[in-house]
Amino acid sequence: MKLWTGRFQKELSKTTNDFNSSIPFDKRMYREDITGSIAHATMLGECGIIEKSESELICKELSAILSDIESGSLPIDMEAEDIHSFVEAELTKRLGDTGKRVHTARSRNDQVALDIRMYLKNEAAGIQKLLCDLISVICDKALENSETVMPGYTHLQRAQPITFGHHLLAYGEMLKRDLSRLDDCIERMDEMPLGSGALAGTTYPINRELTAKLLGFSRVTNNSLDGVSDRDFCLEIASVLSIIMVHLSRFSEEIIMWCSWEFKFIELDDAFSTGSSIMPQKKNPDIAELVRGKSGRVFGDLMTLLTVMKGIPLAYNKDMQEDKEAVFDAVDTVKMCLTAFTPMIETMKVLKNNMRNAAARGFINATDCADYLTKKGMPFRDAYKITGQLVATCIDKNTTLEELSITDYQAVCNVFDNDIYDAISLDRCVNERKVLGSPCSENVRFQANRLKETIEKGFV
Ligand code: ARG
Repeated sequence: MKLWTGRFQKELSKTTNDFNSSIPFDKRMYREDITGSIAHATMLGECGIIEKSESELICKELSAILSDIESGSLPIDMEAEDIHSFVEAELTKRLGDTGKRVHTARSRNDQVALDIRMYLKNEAAGIQKLLCDLISVICDKALENSETVMPGYTHLQRAQPITFGHHLLAYGEMLKRDLSRLDDCIERMDEMPLGSGALAGTTYPINRELTAKLLGFSRVTNNSLDGVSDRDFCLEIASVLSIIMVHLSRFSEEIIMWCSWEFKFIELDDAFSTGSSIMPQKKNPDIAELVRGKSGRVFGDLMTLLTVMKGIPLAYNKDMQEDKEAVFDAVDTVKMCLTAFTPMIETMKVLKNNMRNAAARGFINATDCADYLTKKGMPFRDAYKITGQLVATCIDKNTTLEELSITDYQAVCNVFDNDIYDAISLDRCVNERKVLGSPCSENVRFQANRLKETIEKGFV
């Protein structure tokens, strides 16, 4: 039975009913819907809009419905139009006329606007927790690898030596910004829309602040049209989730490369890799590939939401029912990805020697060789040119700057002395990079500890 049958003489056809219904996907908001209704009914009783005794009865029965759903003794009726109709129908079934009073001074339009805000506020905080777990694993790995030298890249060409810890902490910084983006989302979502009614508020003398307080919102929405038709918070969280997926996807791409025979910088734990049905030698980084692939879903969800919202006039339109599947999918996908990704990073084996060997080839200390000459008084451009000639000599002789003889150095420029070998040693090249934010071991330890403290302070 629909909530709105009074004006209608026919039932909806089965196909139209299924098309119109949102219960298959909004049933997950049952807790928010019931908690919201309890707060609303309490407020109605406090304001004398319904009898106190009726308000108490409604609240008690709503709590019973909640625990019955949670225990599994009350299955959610998939024939209902949506979760709001289902809860109200169940209440009315149990309380008769008293149950019917719960919807006084309320519309499903402000009710659904409330439920999604409550649901997403909670999910955003849960995702922050998952992000903190990943950041903490990254920090620990960075601390274990504060002295692990590897090549840093630009254009995927070996560029300058860095430490693996420093590389990992770059992701830590990205994810830290994601945490604060979620904070911003939560802050802007923190407005209670009940009282907006269908679109134009209500004539009942309700107390919106009381409802907001009962539900833990810090303020109420200021405009009834906006209160029911604002879905900026869905767009915003989907944008933040998309950015998180960009970060996870870039990280995944590197994991995939690092696992390849071409790099062999890391080895993933068996529990996070899969084999091939035909090639016995294969160990594939499927988890990282799936995370990289799933980023597409989340970007798609954001695009769905933007497109749904872009042309609809004020206030509520049924188009807005399409917000839920997209935003829920984005939330679920990010949660799944983080849950799979963190232990994969935690258990990966770092092949430090391979990283160092890769850093020793590829002339990544060429900048330091040029700096050696400038420190002896030569202008940088000249030093750059001389170093270029030395690299060409090395390529010719199939050797490295570390192995080139002092005679070969001096043949190109007589400023070189035996101290060149110390100046271009990999450890020195890394550890001389001491400026704040640089890859030296000391900085890595400092930044990893600082990042750990930040998340422990803000998000425990
Ligand atoms: N199921 C609807 C939604 O998700 C709830 C609001 C319905 N309001 C209405 N006037 N049809 O958007």
